[in-house]
Order: sequence, then C-alpha cells, then structure tokens
Amino acid sequence: MLVTAGPTREPLDPVRFLTNRSSGKMGYELAHAFSGAGHTVLLVSGPTAIDVPDGVDFLPVETAAEMHAAVEHHIGRMDVAVFAAAVADYTPAMVAPEKIKKTGERITLELVRTPDILGSARESFGFAGTLVGFAAETENLEANARDKLRRKGCDLVIANDVSKPGIGFDSDHNQVLLVFPEHTEALPLATKHDLAHQLVQAIFETHAVKRC
Ligand code: PMT
Repeated sequence: MLVTAGPTREPLDPVRFLTNRSSGKMGYELAHAFSGAGHTVLLVSGPTAIDVPDGVDFLPVETAAEMHAAVEHHIGRMDVAVFAAAVADYTPAMVAPEKIKKTGERITLELVRTPDILGSARESFGFAGTLVGFAAETENLEANARDKLRRKGCDLVIANDVSKPGIGFDSDHNQVLLVFPEHTEALPLATKHDLAHQLVQAIFETHAVKRC
C-alpha cells in the first residue's frame, strides 16, 4: 500500500516557504490502519509533527516535486495507492538564493504549477492498481469529487468539505463522502482514527471487486 500524507513546503528563499494547514493526521491514520490489517505500507509524507506509525515504511519529502519523484519511483510495486496529501498546486517560479530583503511596500510572487501526482498515476506512471484520491472542496463537494474521479482515473475519491469547522485540515475529526464511479456513500462524522478503519474496509472491498 502506498499512502501520501501531510502538506508540501515550497521554498521561497533559504528561510521561507509556502505551505498549507494539513497536519498529516488523516494519512497517518490510514497508514496505521493498513499496517494493523497486516499490509506492507509505504508512507510518503511532507513535513508533519506526528510520529510515524509502528511497522510503516517511511519516506519523508518536502516539496511537491520531491513527492512526485518518490511516488513515481515506488508506485509500480503497489497494489493500492491512496493520496491523502495536500500537495501545493503552485510553487515559486524561482527560489531566491539569499533571504529576500524588505524593500518596497509590495512584492509580487510568480508561481508555476506543480506536477499533479494523482493525475500522473495512470498514464504517466502506468499504475494499474486500485487508485484512491481525496478531494478537499469548499463547494459542490460531490460534483467536484466525481469530476476528479473521472479525470484522474480513480476507483474511489474520498471527499471532504474543508470549509466546515471541526473537520478536514488539522482536526482530529473528519466527515467524508465516498464517491465511486457508479454511486456515492456518505459516512458520519468520526475521529480520523475510527474513520481510517472504515476507509480501509471500503478500499479493500473496492480492490477485491477490481481484481475479479
Ligand atoms: O492532513 P490533515 O490535517 O489530517 O487533513 C486531511 C486532509 C484535509 C488534508 C485530507 O483529508 C485531504 O482532503 N487531502 C487532499 C487535500 C487536497 O489537496 O485535495 P485536492 O482536492 O486539492 O487534490 C485532489 C487530489 O489530488 C488529492 O488526492 C491530492 O493528494 C492529489 N494531488 C493534488 C495536487 C497535486 N499537485 N498532486 C496530487 O497528487
């Protein structure tokens, strides 16, 4: 099993970076639940403050480009890949070699797109296993998740409404929609720990159907 987790950090200069509020909790709980169910797990994670779960292989990365390279290298030997990381969609066009000085009243940052790791899994990496994405949305949760499912060739997209207080980014709880190609299932609010066990069950069932 491959699990991505946490935020990425996109450097601006030697002391500053762009990042987001992902704590890594959702991805680490998934890695823990897969491992507890007896599976070999590789956790590819951006920087977090969480201990790596026992029995889980760990590959730390910082940037979206590093996460892309790590996933590209390892995904070929995986049965299941779950993308819970909150990967930066844009990165600074240039990293300043020295600390950026305070000069004018405004500065403008030029950002460029990062590689879409989940979107590379099927065609670019040739991954034929069970592919599970997350969708972090603030509106049209199901429709946007279903669009991601189709565009990125996923077997399942786990959608969370990150505009709701108390769930999603940096919370101990989450509430998700399971968006499959043919139907959608809503799971109740739960701790990320308990939810991870439900998600692992749903992912195993999806994997079993796919192999038939
Ligand atoms: O880490 P926590 O604090 O526990 O919070 C959990 C979470 C809210 C981060 C998690 O539940 C979640 O929703 N993760 C996905 C966040 C996200 O970036 O969603 P997205 O809709 O922008 O991206 C869609 C999918 O593409 C995701 O599977 C993402 O990992 C993947 N992606 C996105 C951009 C990119 N360049 N490469 C990717 O692989």
